[in-house]
Parts: sequence; C-alpha cells; structure tokens
Amino acid sequence: MRVIGLETSCDETGVAVYDSARGLLAHALYSQVSLHEEYGGVVPELASRDHVRKTLPLLRQVLAEAGLRRTDIDGVAYTAGPGLIGALLVGAAIGRSLAWALGVPAVAVHHMEGHLLAPMLEENPPAFPFVALLVSGGHTQLMRVDGVGQYALLGDTLDDAAGEAFDKTAKLLGLGYPGGPALARLAERGDPARFHFTRPMVNRPGLEFSFSGLKTHALTTLRAEPLADEQTRADIARAFEDAVVDTLAIKCRRALEQTGLTRLVVAGGVSANRRLRERLDDMARPLAAAVYYPRLEFCTDNGAMIAYAGYQRLRAGQTEPLAFTAWPRWPLSEVAAPSA
Ligand code: KG4
Ligand code: ZN
Repeated sequence: MRVIGLETSCDETGVAVYDSARGLLAHALYSQVSLHEEYGGVVPELASRDHVRKTLPLLRQVLAEAGLRRTDIDGVAYTAGPGLIGALLVGAAIGRSLAWALGVPAVAVHHMEGHLLAPMLEENPPAFPFVALLVSGGHTQLMRVDGVGQYALLGDTLDDAAGEAFDKTAKLLGLGYPGGPALARLAERGDPARFHFTRPMVNRPGLEFSFSGLKTHALTTLRAEPLADEQTRADIARAFEDAVVDTLAIKCRRALEQTGLTRLVVAGGVSANRRLRERLDDMARPLAAAVYYPRLEFCTDNGAMIAYAGYQRLRAGQTEPLAFTAWPRWPLSEVAAPSA
C-alpha cells in the first residue's frame, strides 16, 4: 500500500509517500521560516497562502522522485489538527479532493500522532507499549502508548509548552524566530555554572510540567545584569536550557518508573535538542531503558510522519467521508484506535 502524507498544520509544507513494503519512498519539505522571519513569529494568513502555493508542486516532486504515477497511490493522509485552522484546511482540502479524484480512500491524521509514530520510520523502531514524551511548540505531554490510537495521557503542561518556552525565551534574549534552535546554539557558548534556574514542579509528585516561570526567570536574570553582553546572554540561555532539559528528564524517569515500562519515545520539535537527547540517554542507562528518537529532520514537522500514521490507520480500515473537517484544538487522548 502506497500512501501520500500531507502536512500543513503550521509553518512547514511537508509531503511524502510511504510504501508498506518498501518504507519511505520520497519526502519533501518547504519551510516558511524566511516568510515569517521579519514578523518574529508565524503569521497564520501568510502560512495558509504559502501552503496553497507549495503543496501541489511538492507533491509532483515527491511522486517524480519516487518514480510513481498518480495511479500508483492507494490512499491519501492529511493532518487534520491540531494547528492553525487556515493552514490545516489547505492540506485537508487538497488531500480529500486528491483522494476523491484518484478514487482512493482519504484519512485524517492527528499531528501529534504523526510525531509520536515518527520513530517507527527508523531502523530500530520501538515496540509497543512505551512511554512517549511529546515536546513541540504547542505540546509537552507524557503519554502511555499501547498501540496505534491507544494513548493515555500521563502528564501535561499547565502553561507553556517546552518549545514555546524556548521560543519566548529566545525572543527576550534578542534571538529571532524560530527561537528554539537559535537558543540552543547560543547556549553552546554559555557557562553552565554562572546561573542556576530552579527545576519547576520536580519536588511535588505527578507528571505535570510548568515552563512559563523559567521564561520569567530568564527575563529577571537578564534585567538584573548590568552588562547584558553576548556572554551573559549565552550563560542565561545555557541555564534555561539545562533547567528545561533536566525537568523533562526527571519527569520521563518518573513516568518510566511509574508505568514499569522500559521504552521511551521522544518526538516533536524539541526532540532535536542535542542536550535533551544526551540527558535522556544518561537517565535511561541505569534503568536499562531504551530511548527512541526520530532522525533529526523528522523531529520537526514533516510529511513522512503523516504518511506513516495515515498508512497505519488506512490499513486498519479507517477512512474519511467525502466531507472534510479540521480541528485547531484536538487532544491526542481523544483519538480513537483505528479498529474502534
Ligand atoms: O514539532 P514542531 O516542528 O512544530 C510543532 O508541532 O509545534 O516543533 C517546533 C518547536 C519550536 O518551538 C522550536 O523552537 C522547537 O520545536 N525546536 C527546538 C529545537 N529545534 C526545534 N527547541 C530546542 N532545541 C532545538 N534544537
Ligand atoms: Zn509538530
């Protein structure tokens, strides 16, 4: 079965084709970073218009790279939420129409399910059940995953998502959009011993997160410094990153211990963070647990994860009616298993 995946939920247009027998055949991504850069963040209307421009050319490119004709396609998967509604509607409209025109089934995919299943595209994929840490611009969640569509929420953030905290802190340190990778780069030059940020919510039981205090702490630290030079900003970036990474690792260990599971999947944009990966690997070693990540390019938004998640649902018989819908807010724990 060959499935096209379309991802248009935010600021990247991703298109891919997954073959159940041969794996990922081709994938292409167009990032809108240069479009939104001058505004310091994503402008939803500009994002939607750009998805309109880019989706079909990328689709043609991917089919050509895979050496496929349109008639070789057995199904079309598109991200139906959560995300920016206008952006989502572009992918949903194109995906649903394309499936209709080709006479094949369409399937709506939850963006975070795509992220969560992305490590399945790697050589050594995790077996179910596992604990998943989803860390993106909009989400910070720990889930217990027993199979496709079997997601139990273990812990969530009470305020900002980890990626959002990275982006906001980057902004106040004078870094541009997208802030997460820029802050991580600046932190490389930071002195880890100069500032210490308290790890939020680690001293009480539970698996909840809170990151907005760290951003405020970064701001007050910056303001208290008479000389907010490059080194000071790098030191603050390092203290902030260490606090986020440490907090995520502490809660992941707790989730593994609580569930008794020995596999941890980490996905979403922040899973590209090098320090987070190192810290999680260190945490898992004494527990004899294994940590699984997507390859770096599939940590952030992409079409491959949507094609793969779509394939899993299509093969279980799930299809959409002719009318399409998109959901800007859509909790992953409400996504049903495909056979349900
Ligand atoms: O998954 P993603 O591409 O989009 C959403 O679904 O939100 O995640 C984007 C988020 C942004 O907040 C970005 O700053 C963050 O992931 N991010 C990083 C890194 N790369 C991306 N945060 C920290 N370190 C990184 N290396
Ligand atoms: Zn994402």
